[in-house]
Amino acid sequence: MEWRENAKKMAAISASKHVKNGSIVGLGSGTTVVYAFQELSRKIKETKLNIVGVPTSYQASQIATKYGIPLTTLDENPQLDITLDGADQIDNDLNMIKGMGGALTKEKIVASASRMNIIMVDETKLTEKLGINQPVPIEVIPFALPLVQQKLRHLGSNPILREAKKKLGPVITDNGNLILDVDFGPIDNPKELNQILKVIPGIVETGLFLELADIIYVGRKETTSKLEKK
Ligand code: 5RP
Repeated sequence: MEWRENAKKMAAISASKHVKNGSIVGLGSGTTVVYAFQELSRKIKETKLNIVGVPTSYQASQIATKYGIPLTTLDENPQLDITLDGADQIDNDLNMIKGMGGALTKEKIVASASRMNIIMVDETKLTEKLGINQPVPIEVIPFALPLVQQKLRHLGSNPILREAKKKLGPVITDNGNLILDVDFGPIDNPKELNQILKVIPGIVETGLFLELADIIYVGRKETTSKLEKK
């Protein structure tokens, strides 16, 4: 296994240890969470771990179902105990950019409904500053696309409409929206930028996940380290 895959797996196994019997669990999206789902599946079978999960995407829903993790909804369980998710970039304050998998809106809703958020990454995701070589994904209502693009250009950025693979045209999110990948360069004040973006009509959600992570497991070549909210 390439070292990064092993690092992701080890981080996911560490994160899964926080899931207690009877928990309502937010199920993040991406490739790292798959290792966590596998570990939860093993515990469900071998130790009779009793949990239900709220998936953040069709991907999470399908994979959780494949691994025998029972699912629930926010309607039934609006308060979650814990959420396990990945991230695209993490700074020293544990602020994150998420959404390269296109699931940012549900991921942020589920994270904000969760008492504890545990993030699993390999060490390539760590950065001094958010936005270095990393665009911010932004989910946009299709009707508003030209307006949002124009406003983002006025902010000095270059929004790129995310194109689908194996389908012509743009990515359509699980919510029926579009994704703009927006390169802001190194972001000095993520909170201020997020506030500016959130008031643009047509922006549904941004990939700036600020003050949401409680614990981050970072898989490295030889070890896994733990970062905690101060
Ligand atoms: C999806 C996400 C993912 O958590 C993020 O893209 C990390 O994915 P991976 O675990 O595959 O590196 O935000 O919207």
